[in-house]
Amino acid sequence: MRAHVIERVLSDAQTFINGGAWVPPNIEGMAPFIPIQSDGELHRGYRSFIMPHVVGKPLKGAIERARGLAVGLIEGFRDKGTCDFTTDFAQHLPIEVFLSLVDLPSSDRPYLASLAEVVRMPSLEDRMDAFNKLHEYVARYVDERTANPGEDLISTIVNGTIMGRPMTRDEIVGECTQVLIGGLDTVASMMGFIAAHLAVNTPLRQRLIEEPRLIERKIDEIIRRFGVAAPARQAVADVEIDGVEVKKGDPVFVATMLHGLDDQRWTDPLVIDLDRSASGTDFRTFGSGPHRCPGAALARSEIILFLEEWLKRIPDYSLIPDQPMVVGSGSVTGVLSLPLQWKV
Ligand code: HEM
Repeated sequence: MRAHVIERVLSDAQTFINGGAWVPPNIEGMAPFIPIQSDGELHRGYRSFIMPHVVGKPLKGAIERARGLAVGLIEGFRDKGTCDFTTDFAQHLPIEVFLSLVDLPSSDRPYLASLAEVVRMPSLEDRMDAFNKLHEYVARYVDERTANPGEDLISTIVNGTIMGRPMTRDEIVGECTQVLIGGLDTVASMMGFIAAHLAVNTPLRQRLIEEPRLIERKIDEIIRRFGVAAPARQAVADVEIDGVEVKKGDPVFVATMLHGLDDQRWTDPLVIDLDRSASGTDFRTFGSGPHRCPGAALARSEIILFLEEWLKRIPDYSLIPDQPMVVGSGSVTGVLSLPLQWKV
């Protein structure tokens, strides 16, 4: 799939809708994800509740909390000389960010981390069970904030009206759960791919260590290289895309990671080139069009803080030869495990 095809599908929300098929399909009986599996006015309404909570002061607060956690986690395993980057580190940061957005304590993090692992399990039963537990977890706080609203994201959604009516409890729980899941695997996996890349690319790692200001300045070039999300669309009419006939009702899998890797669009796309002049933000790692990731600024800040705090404390590290990285596919390409080692 070429960059121009990805752009075309994402920009034509009339022909390619979100509300239909999903790849892989939703587990039977599971509520649709909100707002990602909705369209038009309904989608705009759902989305409007999220936006104020993922910018400005809430974003700053969430990143401060995540930075504190990142430093604590790294200091906790630094003297051991090894860690599993995903389960000991990366997975915890987005959970902490979510807990900050919904004003809940860090003490809930281990429970959510245990479910995050199960959501990726190959067994359908395990996955369904984990999703149900996530729903139950969120529903408990939805009820609490319905009784005692605050200024957090859950309270905004609880009090939201959509197309002139109040949100239903299912919609509220579905939307809060998607904000949690939307930022979880995506951020953790991107951090994993970046950490693995830097482990084997010493000159690039060295440059970021010696010129730490480049981390923030060039973060978009790093994000371009490591797309992880592959959302889906459903065609509502027969249409031809790049010579391929798509029939009405067909699902279309939009592998956003291929946009940043298209050699017709980028010179040496596999190379993270800190001197590349034209990367800007013209990539599709966060999608585009009406569903463009609302958490993009948050994700960007999380990746920056990971690189800043990690490279300061564990500058020289490597992969463990007999313990390979484990990657899982799906609507998000996840780094399930990334064993790392360093000298102590
Ligand atoms: C590196 C991290 C991330 C990546 C690569 C990523 C990627 C994406 C992409 C490609 C979409 C568009 C889906 C579509 O077109 O159907 C999307 C939507 C979404 N993302 Fe992210 N995301 C990331 C982080 C986050 C974070 C931190 C949050 C938490 C706030 C989040 C919440 C969402 C939500 C709620 C949607 C649905 C938006 C809508 O349907 O309007 N994402 N994300």
